[in-house]
This record gives sequence, structure tokens and C-alpha cells, in this order.
Amino acid sequence: MVPGIGAVGVLGCGLMGSGIAQVAAAAGYRVVARDVGDEPLARARGAIEGSLAKLVEKGKLAPEARDAALGRIAFTTDLAALRDCDLVIEAVPEELELKNRLWAELDRRCPPATIFASNTSSLPIGAMAAGTGRPDRFVGLHFFNPVPLMPLVEVVRAITTGAAIFERAVEFARSLGKQVVVSRDTPGFIVNLLLLPYLLDAVRALERGVASVPDLDTAMRLGCGHPMGPFTLLDFVGIDTAVRIADIMFDEYRDARYAAPPLLRRMVRAGLYGRKSGRGFYDYATDPPTPLDWTAR
Ligand code: CAA
Repeated sequence: MVPGIGAVGVLGCGLMGSGIAQVAAAAGYRVVARDVGDEPLARARGAIEGSLAKLVEKGKLAPEARDAALGRIAFTTDLAALRDCDLVIEAVPEELELKNRLWAELDRRCPPATIFASNTSSLPIGAMAAGTGRPDRFVGLHFFNPVPLMPLVEVVRAITTGAAIFERAVEFARSLGKQVVVSRDTPGFIVNLLLLPYLLDAVRALERGVASVPDLDTAMRLGCGHPMGPFTLLDFVGIDTAVRIADIMFDEYRDARYAAPPLLRRMVRAGLYGRKSGRGFYDYATDPPTPLDWTAR
């Protein structure tokens, strides 16, 4: 654990927030996990319990360590419960206004020493830092899904981030057992800058009729050794999330590589978000999932 960081607040307990709460608690930090309702909190607790159970099953975690980790997480709907945290990590949806509303409220409640970090994958860290009274204590901590398994964290330095705060953020990520890479505060950082054009190109290839969804996936899995093909990965990340990231990056770079293909937008409008909604490029009602072809619709 990093000296001076005892309690970690996690704002937003979806896929990413619940994973971040889990790894922080497993590393020994007291965690205050906040979401807007009892239902998302119950889902988050269920996801954490399920993930910890898998790690115990595989012999990667002792049952006592699982119980201790769970005991360190307090779930709450009360934003004020984060006031005693030394570090607050935000993982709410990718909407700058929503994030900045929450940061402004937290800025008023937390002591000046509290470090603020965002898990945004594509919004500028500087655009959040500037809205607080502590732009020097604001940093990006970008985790990858599934957080308990993916070993990387991108630590992002906004132009205002203080050198000592940046170092603490790096140490914190390392204390979770993660490998750190350092990125400048530009949309997409490192991973999404390279990953998004690849995923969008896969959709363009599908739209052009190059090959089917399962064949494009198999090609990249077996031809390039990727753990998941592009369509399995799009469904895994969430098609709505991928479109939101693409839009933010297109807005910044004005480069056609980041333009979301129409097929993705049609899918988002139809609620076909991927795994989380049950259907995307695959139907998850079956095991194995059944490929779906929406190109002709
Ligand atoms: N917690 C604990 N254990 C888990 C888990 C979780 N959340 N999810 C899966 N596991 C376990 C499974 O139980 C399984 O255990 P066994 O080996 O004992 O069976 C093991 O992990 C492997 O899982 P699966 O067999 O289900 O699937 P897999 O072999 O494909 O591995 C994976 C899963 C690690 C997710 C792998 O597919 C992978 O690395 N995929 C790529 C993920 C990726 O690219 N993520 C980044 C997305 S981009 C992003 O997140 C950033 C952004 O801003 C959008």
C-alpha cells in the first residue's frame, strides 16, 4: 500500500468501477464504492463476489483474503461518504458534464489533500482538472476490462498535474499489482488511440462484405494471437461505449479513422450493446454465443 493512501473512493460501480473497487480492496485499501441506486450497488457487489470466487477457485486467492477484501468495501449511494478518502477514482459514463458535476460536488466535500483520478478512456483529464480547485492534484488512472485480470494501467499526466501527485498515482497503480505505462493527456491515451481504429476497421470490413463476423474474429485470434477477435471485443467493451469513445476521438482528431461506422450507430439505437444487453455481434442467450448479421438490416 502507498503511505498516506488508506481509503479509496470509487465513483460509479459499473463494469470498471466494481473492478477497481475489487483490486483496491484486495490490495489492502479501505474502499468506499458509490453509485446512484441500490440496484447498481447490488450488481457491483455480485460482480465482485463472483470474480473473487473465481480467483479462489483457481487458487490465486485464499478464502480468508477474499473475505478480508469484501469486508473492506463499503457500498453507498451517499456522495458525502467519500469525504474521508485519500484518493477518489471516478468511473461514471463518458459524459464530461456528468463527470464535472460530480467533481465540483466532491471538490467542495473532500479535504484539499485528497487526490482525484479519472478512469476515463477518452475525455481530456485537463478538462476535468480545470473545473476543480485542485488541478495540480488531478490525474488519469485508466484501467482495462476485466480489471482484476488485465495487468495494465495507463497513468495520465494532465498539463496541470503536480509531479509528486503523478508519482503517487504511479505508486498506487503499482501497489495494485499493475504494470504502469505513462501517457500524455491526449484523447485515447495509448491503448485506445491504437485499438479504436482497428475495431472500427473490422466493422468497415464487415460492411464491405470481406468476411463474416465469426471468420473475422477467428482470423485475428488465430492469425495474430489476439485473445478475442474484434467483434467479441466490441461486444465485451460495449458497442455504446465504443461509439462514445470513437465520437470523442473523432471530435478531437477530425480523422476518418475514428469515425464510427453507421452499422455501430444503428446497433446502439436498437439497444444492441453487446454482452451487457445480451445481444450485439453475437447473441449471448446461447452457449457458445450465436453470431448475428445486422449488415443487411
Ligand atoms: N475475475 C476473475 N476471473 C475471471 C474474470 C474476472 N472478472 N473473468 C474471467 N475470469 C477467469 C475465468 O474464470 C477463466 O478461468 P479458467 O482459466 O480457470 O477457466 C479465465 O479467467 C479465462 O476466462 P475465459 O475462459 O472466460 O476467457 P479467456 O480465456 O478469453 O480470458 C480474458 C478472458 C482475460 C478477458 C481474455 O479474453 C482477454 O484478455 N481478452 C481481451 C480483453 C481486452 O482486450 N480488454 C481490454 C478492452 S479495452 C478497455 O478495457 C479499455 C477501454 O477504454 C475501452
